[in-house]
Amino acid sequence: MKTVSVCFVCLGNICRSPTAEGVMRRLVEEAKLAERVLIDSAGTGDWHIGQPPDDRAQHAAEQRGYELAALRGRQIAAADFERFDLLIAMDDKNVAALRQICPAEQRDKIRLLMEFVPEADGRWSGAREVADPYFGGAEGFERVLDQCEAACRGLIAALRPQLTT
Ligand code: 4NP
Repeated sequence: MKTVSVCFVCLGNICRSPTAEGVMRRLVEEAKLAERVLIDSAGTGDWHIGQPPDDRAQHAAEQRGYELAALRGRQIAAADFERFDLLIAMDDKNVAALRQICPAEQRDKIRLLMEFVPEADGRWSGAREVADPYFGGAEGFERVLDQCEAACRGLIAALRPQLTT
């Protein structure tokens, strides 16, 4: 059985990447692909290792039926480039930090989440990054969820051909 492994990456691993992980877990289950798509998340920084997602991220996600409470922050490591097929960053700074620790031959595994939004989804045309909501208000967390939902749908569509048989 073919599988694919993806790790979502942001700065703290308490707002954006756990949200992407929670959204992706549910969409993958709905697509009956839970056994084939391995999902994780991590931060490029070390401030929130071992911590649950930010309360605001948990609350916003819960309103849409996503469960983030069991997730815990961890920091990305060079070994993750061996473990995962794709390391999917939220913004350009995350990409730069990933490139710093990435073995040269694994660089193609680093992608931006918003690359996976289908072009037909005009709402997000021009949105290259998932903006950091940490220092802002509740609307930032709603936007993160909207972006994760659009991009994770596109990501599943992009992965499907690799998962047949
Ligand atoms: P995240 O958000 O990268 O989406 O998890 C942040 C969380 C914490 C901090 C910054 C961004 N911080 O500065 O502690």
